Amino acid sequence: MTEIQAAPDLASATADVLVVPVLGERNWGPGGEWLAGELGDFLTDYLDELDFQGKPGSVASLPVRDRLSFKRLVLVGVGTDPDPEQIRQGAGAAGKLITRDESVATTIHQLDGPGSVLAALEGFLLSQYRFDKYRTEKKPSKLERILLIDADEAEIAPLADRARVIADAVNLARDLINEPPAAKSPNTLVEVARQIATTGDLDVTVYGPDQFEAERFGGLIGVAAGSHEPAAMIVLRHEPADPKGFIAIVGKGIVFDSGGLSLKPPSGMETMKTDMSGAAVVLATMQAIAALDVPVRVVGVTPVTENMPGGGAQRPGDVLTPRNGTTVEVLNTDAEGRLVLADALSLVAEEEPDLIVDAATLTGACPVALGEKIAGLWGNTDEAIDRVKAAASDAGEAVWHMPLPGYYRKNIDSDVADIKNTGTRYGGSINAALFLKEFVGEVPWAHLDIAGPARWPDDEHYQVKGGSGFGVRTLVKLIEQAGE
Ligand code: BES
Ligand code: MN
Ligand code: ZN
Repeated sequence: MTEIQAAPDLASATADVLVVPVLGERNWGPGGEWLAGELGDFLTDYLDELDFQGKPGSVASLPVRDRLSFKRLVLVGVGTDPDPEQIRQGAGAAGKLITRDESVATTIHQLDGPGSVLAALEGFLLSQYRFDKYRTEKKPSKLERILLIDADEAEIAPLADRARVIADAVNLARDLINEPPAAKSPNTLVEVARQIATTGDLDVTVYGPDQFEAERFGGLIGVAAGSHEPAAMIVLRHEPADPKGFIAIVGKGIVFDSGGLSLKPPSGMETMKTDMSGAAVVLATMQAIAALDVPVRVVGVTPVTENMPGGGAQRPGDVLTPRNGTTVEVLNTDAEGRLVLADALSLVAEEEPDLIVDAATLTGACPVALGEKIAGLWGNTDEAIDRVKAAASDAGEAVWHMPLPGYYRKNIDSDVADIKNTGTRYGGSINAALFLKEFVGEVPWAHLDIAGPARWPDDEHYQVKGGSGFGVRTLVKLIEQAGE
C-alpha cells in the first residue's frame, strides 16, 4: 500500500522525486519560486535546453541530485487555472515518470482547494497501474510513499483513505476488463462478487441457469444459449441503517462478445473481452461504496454471460420475453447487451429506486459519434440526466447528453413482437437507448454507453492503455451525492 504523508515545507522534505506544477507558460505553481531560488540559472538553462514551456500535459524531468534533497525534479504543465481533473491528469502525467522510484514529494495538490488533494492523489495512484500478469518480465510500480508538501497530516488522512479506495476500485475494474476472456467466465465474476460482498459486508444473491425460467430472465436465457459457460444474474446490496436514498446500478457483463450467430468479423472481436466493462464498473463501485460506508441504499445488478454461436444459440428471428413481459424479436444476435440489460433493468425497476443508472459497452456507434474518450448519456427525466452529468463532472469523467426522441421509437417496432433488438442503421446508439427505456417503467433512469472510454486507446496522463475503469468515479460520486 502506498503511504501518503504530509511535510511542512520543501526545504525540509526528502524524496526520490519532487513534482511541481507549472501554470501555462513558465508561470510557477506552488513551490516554483522556492525552486527558482535554489536552482537559479541551472533551472532556466535546463528548461531552455529542453524547450519546456509548461504547456498543459507536458512534462520535464531534471536531475537535481547534488542540488536538492531530491534526486530528480519533474515539472508538469497543468494550464493557467487548473480544475481538479487537470490536477489529476497532471499528477498522472508526472506519475508515469516515477514508477521506478520509491517516493515522491509534490506541491500539485495546493492548486485548487480540498478537491485538488484528492485529485492529485488519485492521479498519482491511478498512473501506477500495470497489467503485467501474463508477462514473463513484470515491471510493477515501486512507488511506496507520496509526500504532500505544506499539508496537515490529520486533514489529509481521510482524503488519502478515500483516494486509495477509489484507485483500488478503478484498478479492480481495469484488472477484470484486461483479463483474457477464458480467464473470466461468468462464474469467475460471480466469485469476484462474492469476495467483494464478504469484504464489504454486502448482501449477495446469484441467480443461476436453473432459476432463469422462474425468474423470467428471457433475455439472459436467449443470449446464454450459444455458450457452454453457465450464465448468472448477480445482485449485490449495500443496506446501511437509516439510508438517505436508494440507487440502483446495472452493468452489462458480456465476458466475450463474438456476436453470436450474427458473428462479428475477426477485427470486431479483438476487443470484445472488454464487453463486461459495465459489470466491472458495477462490482468496483459496490466495493468502493462499501469501503466508504456511504449512507445510501444501493443495489448493484449485473447479468453475466458469454455471447457465442454454439449449437444451441438463439437465431435471428427468435422471440424472447425479458422479465417485464415485453416481447422482443431478435433480428441481430450481436445486439445482445440490450437483451440481458432488459432483464436486469426490469428486475431493479420493480424495487422502485429513486434512480437507476446503467453502464454498458452497448454500441459501436457511440464512439463513432463521440470518439473514444467520452461516454454517451441518455435518460428518461431531466433530473436523472442532471444528476449523472453533475457527478461525472465532479469526478472528472467526460459524458455527453444525447437525445431520446419519441419519434425514433418506431425504429424498434417489430413485425411480429412488441419490439425488435435492432433499429435503423443511423442513430444506432439512440435506438439501443430507446430499447432499454422500455424496461424501466416510470422509474427515473440514466444510461451510460461506455463503448468508447471503457477501453482507453492510449497511455496518457493517469490512464493506461486498455481497460480504464471509466464510470467507477462517476457512480461513486453519484451515490455519495445522493447521501448529502
Ligand atoms: N459490444 C458491442 C458494442 C461495441 C462495439 C462495444 C465496439 C465496443 C466497441 C455490442 O454488443 C454490439 O455488437 N452492438 C452492435 C449493435 C448492432 C448489431 C445493432 C453494434 O454496435 O454494431
Ligand atoms: Mn454484440
Ligand atoms: Zn456486446
